[in-house]
Amino acid sequence: MPALVLLGAQWGDEGKGKATDLLGGSVDYVVRYQGGNNAGHTVVVGDQKYALHLLPSGILTPECTPVIGNGVVVDPSVLLSELSGLNERGVDTSKLLISGNAHIITPYNVTVDKVTERFLGKRKIGTTGRGIGPTYADKINRVGIRVQDLYDESILTQKVEAALDVKNQLLTKLYNRRAIAVDQVVEELLVYADKLAPYVTDTILVLNQALDDGKVVLFEGGQGTLLDIDHGTYPFVTSSNPTAGGACTGAGVGPTKISRVIGILKAYTTRVGAGPFPTELFDEDGEALRRIGGERGVTTGRDRRCGWFDAVIARYATRVNGLTDFFLTKLDVLTGWEQIPVCVAYEIDGRRVEELPYSQSDFHHAKPVYETLPGWSEDITSAKSFSDLPKNAQAYVKALEEMSGAPISAIGVGPGRDETIEINSFI
Ligand code: GDP
Ligand code: IMO
Ligand code: MG
Repeated sequence: MPALVLLGAQWGDEGKGKATDLLGGSVDYVVRYQGGNNAGHTVVVGDQKYALHLLPSGILTPECTPVIGNGVVVDPSVLLSELSGLNERGVDTSKLLISGNAHIITPYNVTVDKVTERFLGKRKIGTTGRGIGPTYADKINRVGIRVQDLYDESILTQKVEAALDVKNQLLTKLYNRRAIAVDQVVEELLVYADKLAPYVTDTILVLNQALDDGKVVLFEGGQGTLLDIDHGTYPFVTSSNPTAGGACTGAGVGPTKISRVIGILKAYTTRVGAGPFPTELFDEDGEALRRIGGERGVTTGRDRRCGWFDAVIARYATRVNGLTDFFLTKLDVLTGWEQIPVCVAYEIDGRRVEELPYSQSDFHHAKPVYETLPGWSEDITSAKSFSDLPKNAQAYVKALEEMSGAPISAIGVGPGRDETIEINSFI
């Protein structure tokens, strides 16, 4: 009954969508367990490119059942347009399952996300503006709307009233905006009820029964370890738990069921939005990584901040997730550099520090200590096995593995499904 977790080991956009899609052919279920349409996962199948936000990347594999777990926040209008977009391209989405316990991103949550960011001014987080934080805040404040509430109009109305009571005070008195009418929100949400009904079920029961029957379940994280609300660079984080424990709470599956935790790790580092980033580059190398790596957000279209590989972060990801494997992506992007710096430790106020500092102030002052590894110039995009890689590329991978604390079991050498070197099998 193997259950695998696949998650981002850095600040998101590591290539989780591609890795999930690749494994999709060998698994029975792919489950999103947290986050929402703040995620942007690009999957390339043959000459077709898909940008997925809310749907699990297993949706592109016909044999696989995609599941939106209880820990996800769902914007119904985004979900329905993503489904119809895929249907128009001939993708069958009828197997999708959505947890009745998942929370709904309401229009007022999106409004609050945007006005809060504007209000923060210089101190803003740089959120995706999709209502993620305010929806999780409502969940924790116990004034959230769940998917199952769409099927009881009276309960829905009471809950929207409770949620808007305080928010309308804030919107009108603090943010200088108009109040939001309860009826209007309820009316809009009820339109989605019938459309979502065929997919809504007790996904927790379904997944546990599947595991008992020996089926293979893959949990697909959104965002990444350093964006985790508990383990990331707080407050510059998202509002959920992308780390491995989040798969258990966000899908209702016990930790004893998880057999493998795979960290998706980019061969260099990127970040979108505000917050500390020790290896960030502001020179032509950073510009080149952005250009060659196509580092532009799929969700908001923002340029991603780029920097060299940071082994301190990779070690941290191994620790907080209990990683069993890494899937190293985008090694091909590094082709052509004569020398490739890798951050092996930080210098903080004159001290050498090997592990991620728990203090936010220390992390903000951390300066990367680099070791430089020799690069390679040969095209590696058609490499099929580790030995096909040039010697220096092999040495780069081995060095990263040594520094990061878990075996690198697959290597991405291009965006396509086939552009992958499999070293150890995952299932
Ligand atoms: P995710 O959010 O973790 O799924 O990652 P994104 O899809 O936001 O960003 C990763 C980008 O890199 C996408 O455009 C992928 O198609 C692309 N990609 C994934 N793996 C590789 C790889 O090994 N090499 C190259 N060149 N591109 C890759
Ligand atoms: P995938 O799944 C990269 C970042 C935002 C912002 C912070 C909080 O594609 O890897 P939020 O809207 O979640 O409240 O924003 O988190 N962020 C991401 N960065 N990849 C993502 O998802 C992200 N999802 C959120 O840029 O800094
Ligand atoms: Mg992404």
